[in-house]
Amino acid sequence: MAIEKVIVIDDEPIIRRSLELQLRGKRLSVALCSTIAEAEKYIAKDSFDLMFVDVRLPDGDGTDLLNRLAPRAEKPLIVVMTGYGTIESAVNCIRSGAFDYIIKPFSASQIDVILRKADNFNQAVRISQILAQESLDAAPLVGESRAIGQLRQMIQKVAPTEATVLICGENGTGKELVATEIFRSSARAQSPFIKVNCAAISETLIESEFFGHERGAFTGATEKREGRFELANNGTILLDEISEISLKLQAKLLRVLQEREFERVGGNRTIKVNVRVLATTNRDLQKSVESQEFRQDLYYRLNVFPIVVPPLRKRKDDLEELAKGFLSRIARRSGAQPPVLTPASLEVLQTYDWPGNVRELQNVMERAVILTEPGQEITPQFLEPMFPTQLLDHPWKEEPSEPVDARNSGIVFPDHIVSLEELEREYILHALRKANGNRTHTAQMLGISIRTLRNKLNELKLGA
Ligand SMILES: Nc1ncnc2c1ncn2[C@@H]1O[C@H](COP(=O)(O)OP(=O)(O)OP(=O)(O)O)[C@@H](O)[C@H]1O
Ligand SMILES: [Mg+2]
Repeated sequence: MAIEKVIVIDDEPIIRRSLELQLRGKRLSVALCSTIAEAEKYIAKDSFDLMFVDVRLPDGDGTDLLNRLAPRAEKPLIVVMTGYGTIESAVNCIRSGAFDYIIKPFSASQIDVILRKADNFNQAVRISQILAQESLDAAPLVGESRAIGQLRQMIQKVAPTEATVLICGENGTGKELVATEIFRSSARAQSPFIKVNCAAISETLIESEFFGHERGAFTGATEKREGRFELANNGTILLDEISEISLKLQAKLLRVLQEREFERVGGNRTIKVNVRVLATTNRDLQKSVESQEFRQDLYYRLNVFPIVVPPLRKRKDDLEELAKGFLSRIARRSGAQPPVLTPASLEVLQTYDWPGNVRELQNVMERAVILTEPGQEITPQFLEPMFPTQLLDHPWKEEPSEPVDARNSGIVFPDHIVSLEELEREYILHALRKANGNRTHTAQMLGISIRTLRNKLNELKLGA
């Protein structure tokens, strides 16, 4: 959301005129007024992105306007213009919510800086609104199994409280989704929801990621930076994969959980925050405590309200709804009809153990959508390569097999087994003969790119 409409309020014609020229030069629309009363008329009938306002005006003080605009949801960013004698009141304006102040006389480049700052600020606000909305829009928790029913109940009980929640479960079970649900149903749903993936950030950077740093705290710290705990102030923080942090950081985290305070890296000012803490782990933290990889006191602080997300193999009742939900969501992204999950394919999904849980199911469905024509039935073969070993003894793979004819493909294999390389070589030669040596046709028939065919021919020394 770039700055488009600006209102200037100053009783000095020369200030109005110079700002007008500069702002119009940037193709901004500009309203000019010399009193508060005039400005109020404009504001009542139009909305502005940015306001330049003088402190001393004939009918009052710029600050009054600030206070009157304060309760409005949609209001311009306000820049207070002040002479040296009134810096104090400019500072007061900032305290009551002005975006910036500028001392008269000012140069064109100072105005440029303000415009750029205002643009960046508006963009940042917009992005954070979108991100917050995304967390609110995230897919809901699907499933009608007893296990998911109990999970939902736990979420609804704990969400409105301020309790720290430890969400445990295997990879891909939906821990982050559970955290998002807790956030969405909490009293802090309108405040920031900040996530930190403890496993993805290097040991050296994570402390600064958590707590921020002061300028010059370490090589590369050219600016001061706020950490995630500070950004999450008055909101919720999700410490994802909490088991992965070092013992040193565990000690610092313990203090945050106990006192809600910390210092930035390289700083000595104590920063107090008000945050709700959610954490996830796919390790058994109690075991990590026993093996002294995780502090017991921290474990107790985190484990105030544990929630266990059950593995998918223990709630196979949910498979159908989950799979269908993923199919339609994935297909919708490309505006296509979702493919159809037949009882036979569902049966295949049911026999599998899903070590990668819901995320694995999501991946399998993604693949099925790619392989199946829109609106058509998903054949079990399209589900197979994701989990070949477990399915070897599944009925649909156990049909009479001599000679094995690769289903649907019409290929008949002889009994005698040759090496794959030999087979590939013979097969490519066969295809080439069929295509009368035309490589483009050969590649098409084999379903590979010409480049891959060329590479294969070279590999198999068939280049000539
Ligand atoms: N019950 C559910 N209903 C709908 N979608 C789900 C459900 N559970 C998980 N998902 C989806 O599966 C994917 C994996 O879930 P999520 O990231 O929450 O799991 P996780 O336990 O945090 O995984 P990891 O251990 O890999 O971090 C996400 O896309 C999520 O939206
Ligand atoms: Mg996760």
